[in-house]
Amino acid sequence: MDRIEQLRGLIHHHNHRYHVLDAPEIADGEFDALFDELVELEKRHPELVTGDSPTQRVGSEPLGEFASVTHPVAMLSLDKVSAGDELSDWVARLSARLDGEPMAFTCEPKIDGVAVALTYDAGRLALAATRGDGQTGEDITANVRTIGAVPLRLTGRGFPPRFEVRGEVYMTRDDMEAFNERARAAGEKPLVNPRNGAAGSLRQLDPRITAGRPLNMYCYSLGWVEGARPPETQMEALERLGAWGLRTNPAVEPADGLEACRRYVDALAERRQALAYDIDGAVIKVDSLDQQRRLGAVTRKPRWAVAYKYPAEEATTRVLAVEFQVGRTGAITPVAKLEPVFVGGVTVSNATLHNMDEIARLDLRIGDAVMVRRAGDVIPQVASVIAGRRPEQAPGVDLPEACPACGSAIVRPEEEAVARCSAGPAVCPAQRKEGLMHYASRLAMDIEGLGEKLIDQLVEKEMVAAPADLFALEQEELAGLERMGEISARNLRHALESSKETTLARFIYALGIREVGEATARNLAEHFGKLEALRDADAETLEAVPDVGPVVAANIAGYFDDAANSQAVDALVEAGVHWPDVEVDKDARPLEGETWVLTGSLESMTRNEAKARLAALGARVAGSVSAKTSRLVAGERAGSKLAKARSLDVPVMDETEFAAFLELLEEKPG
Ligand code: IVH
Repeated sequence: MDRIEQLRGLIHHHNHRYHVLDAPEIADGEFDALFDELVELEKRHPELVTGDSPTQRVGSEPLGEFASVTHPVAMLSLDKVSAGDELSDWVARLSARLDGEPMAFTCEPKIDGVAVALTYDAGRLALAATRGDGQTGEDITANVRTIGAVPLRLTGRGFPPRFEVRGEVYMTRDDMEAFNERARAAGEKPLVNPRNGAAGSLRQLDPRITAGRPLNMYCYSLGWVEGARPPETQMEALERLGAWGLRTNPAVEPADGLEACRRYVDALAERRQALAYDIDGAVIKVDSLDQQRRLGAVTRKPRWAVAYKYPAEEATTRVLAVEFQVGRTGAITPVAKLEPVFVGGVTVSNATLHNMDEIARLDLRIGDAVMVRRAGDVIPQVASVIAGRRPEQAPGVDLPEACPACGSAIVRPEEEAVARCSAGPAVCPAQRKEGLMHYASRLAMDIEGLGEKLIDQLVEKEMVAAPADLFALEQEELAGLERMGEISARNLRHALESSKETTLARFIYALGIREVGEATARNLAEHFGKLEALRDADAETLEAVPDVGPVVAANIAGYFDDAANSQAVDALVEAGVHWPDVEVDKDARPLEGETWVLTGSLESMTRNEAKARLAALGARVAGSVSAKTSRLVAGERAGSKLAKARSLDVPVMDETEFAAFLELLEEKPG
């Protein structure tokens, strides 16, 4: 069928524009129409479905095992240099070997992911293999096919009849965090770090699982080439790869000598946190492939390239103890107390262990040697326990029976990962403190000068039990506290006074109801308009609010049913906290009853803004696509959700269409 082939060609072309070049040429709607037509034709002619058909990205049937693959050209690893001197030593050694010939270099980020070799035969992805031991790897073609950035078919002209390209499959930090947030919410195992996330995703025997993981790939070299002239330099190789439709890292730069390499290495270290992905260093390569060949390799490591390593964002240390912290809602979080260790530029002595399931998964005991990891702004985590370094009789970690702050019983419902203090803030001082911190926080009542140290004192001296008590504090009382004086006391009084004028959304958020975040609070304020309406709402009424499911609805209703909470709310209103009523305009909710899903990255607005605008129009914003989804908004690099939406015939909008649509609906009539 010519049309099938024609459609595949078109879809591959547009996929490349979208995933590799970030420059789509057609609207999503048009792309969808092509995709739908192909799905339809393949349904009618299943015998014509091929592995490189774009419809195959959603993941094929599970495999029994991975076949092994022998690499025709070994996949080497890299020698490491760290101090600046070692880099100049390396350059000097090469220079001596080449009798002083001039050398040029390329400098590349060393992405912390998984090395993969792709074989293209007549422009089609024929094989994807892991590095394995360098000689033999595993055939992971079915999994790699699901990665949007990997072309199933090359675009452009002039690619060799057969060749192998190598690169790194990775996950961005944001993608991993978003994935983990969903996994934790669903009670599933989170990924430990982006590298493990990428490796684990590629190791799945069921490609449909891989299809649901946010993987990406940058290509960094040619393994071998058949039937065409190989490139002359690394830079030329990268340019060619790009021209054939493969994704290459824009952060790669040529460097004409040692000084330029040094500048690159320093500049990349500066940019490290700003990159979307984890790197563990820079790779410096001799640019000329002829010089590379003449320099050769020793014991599986090429002489012509080195990895310049940055200080690790992982370090090993020892667990001295595990303490249990009590959060605002009574949630008990185990925290590892560590022998202080320098990781990624700071000294770390605490790391979160999330919950008891995580401790069981890590099989962590007191005294264990552990790998601690810190990346970006993320709280330090215990990544793994180092096997074989456990002291004898290392005690295990048990969930305490009593709350460390108030002594009340700790309970853990069977189906939940989180254990909680069974008392409320009226009894538990830790919850009181956390509740006050939340009340004063920036996105809540934004009370400047009311920090942790001060709240600790206020609670310990029993000067404050509930937020409303803050307003009864006299300036002199405040001035008498540690680290306070006349001026800070006066400033705090002033901040407290001005915080009384607020909005309903902030007030609802400030109450600290379990699982009512800022966005949900805003939706509640817009839906109910008045505090009284929210207080009177039953679970069913609450569930009509965007973002509110049965669990959150029960939390809200339960909160206001509690006499102590009700009293605390009344006391705040009596103390003078006030806000203007929110107008509830039914006509302004044209998307009432619809469920929308956002996927991919949006350029013109943040994801939160998009959610808030949809919610304001009455739509519910959900995290996953189902047959009930009203519409999917697909931003850049949309992946499995887009594929799923298409397979379920859910209408899809691209960002441009979405922005125009929002503007149209937001224009108030009259
Ligand atoms: S070149 C002989 N370039 O680092 C050349 N490798 O120890 C070896 N890696 O497992 C590969 N970014 O997966 C090269 N820009 C880059 C790289 C890179 C990450 C990984 C690679 C390999 C390891 C080498």
